[in-house]
Amino acid sequence: MRVGILTGGGDAPGFNAVIYGALLRAYKESIDDLEVIGIKKGWEVFTYKNEDLTPEVINRYTEVLEIADHDDLHTKGGTIIYTSRSNPFKALAKVKDLDERKAREREIGEDMASKFEILGIDALIAVGGDDTCGVAAAMYKHAGANVCACPKTIDNDLAGTDYTFGFFTSAQLATNVLDNITTTAHSHQRIFVVEIMGRDAGWLTVYSGIAAGADIILLPEKPFDFKEDVLDVLKARANAGYKYHIIACSEGAVPTKESIERDFTVISQEDIDKLPKDVFGNPLLAKLKISDKITKELIKQEELSAFFKKCDANYEVRSVILGHTMRAGTPNVFDRVLGLRYGYHAMQYVLEGNFGKLTSLQGTEIKPVDLVEGSKKSIVDLSSDLVEIKDAIVAVKHKTKEHLFLK
Ligand code: F6P
Repeated sequence: MRVGILTGGGDAPGFNAVIYGALLRAYKESIDDLEVIGIKKGWEVFTYKNEDLTPEVINRYTEVLEIADHDDLHTKGGTIIYTSRSNPFKALAKVKDLDERKAREREIGEDMASKFEILGIDALIAVGGDDTCGVAAAMYKHAGANVCACPKTIDNDLAGTDYTFGFFTSAQLATNVLDNITTTAHSHQRIFVVEIMGRDAGWLTVYSGIAAGADIILLPEKPFDFKEDVLDVLKARANAGYKYHIIACSEGAVPTKESIERDFTVISQEDIDKLPKDVFGNPLLAKLKISDKITKELIKQEELSAFFKKCDANYEVRSVILGHTMRAGTPNVFDRVLGLRYGYHAMQYVLEGNFGKLTSLQGTEIKPVDLVEGSKKSIVDLSSDLVEIKDAIVAVKHKTKEHLFLK
């Protein structure tokens, strides 16, 4: 048996741990003819026409993974088999008719499944986020392909699991920055707007924001009002004697329509609506550079600046975009162990012939869930305790000390 494994989408700390987990389970099986094949660059090879898959191309995209060659692979960052955002279902974006769409989905799914034989694999483990797992789910649904998947993403936005691997390493990196930036913010009495990855899910921002005690926390799930959620809070904080301020802002946070019209000169609703999309149709929210836009608008606030001076505080604003530093480096303990468990269990499902499954962390256990259902997206629930704590932190942090004692 030859089991393929591929890593797709944006990289996340723990990718290599999943590969190592799968290798460990395969090795434990001690069957001579069980081989693990790394399929390089995500779904890219699946976008080729079958006739173009020459032995030379196949050789370029596949590699036998031997456990002996990859000692302690789970401790390493990145992915040894590379990743890409290739989407074999890309052409579907233009198909509006539902029946035609279904037919095309089946066609593409079957075409992809037919490549197993050409690539010399009997089954496949796809490791990725909602886009990568969504492709695996469509292959399973439309062509009954022998495929399982493991949920990855620093964004933690997959419905089928409590946590994706990569999330806690990334949340820690963001928290470190939010913690550390307070020293320079303090020294200069500055406002820092720190932009945190996470596309359209605010998990990274809410976790790092509350963990570091950021003063204002802006999530994609709830469009913000610049006046109420930023200017008024900064004013109250200056009035309460605070000399520096940290704004944790998700790259996907956007102002309400009303606020854009009333408060923004450097972006319009059209800029947001017309953002370019990636091959999976996701708007490239990072291109908005919302932290930069907030900073520019803040710099223009003469009244607030004068109020800060009256409170004996400087009024200087800077922005920092964490960007890809949030995905960089080695996985932390949690993501190493979670990655190992996901890979180990996914290989187990493959060996049992239990296809169409996503490995899922439920409490402390790893369980198989339906791949199609599990690959759906999850965002922060605005009625959750996390959001309640976020609001409580922000509210407390603009009260004066006297005010807090009185309560
Ligand atoms: O989905 C993971 C993620 O890191 C998002 O948080 C971010 O918006 C996106 O990937 C960035 O993608 P790329 O690496 O293609 O620039």
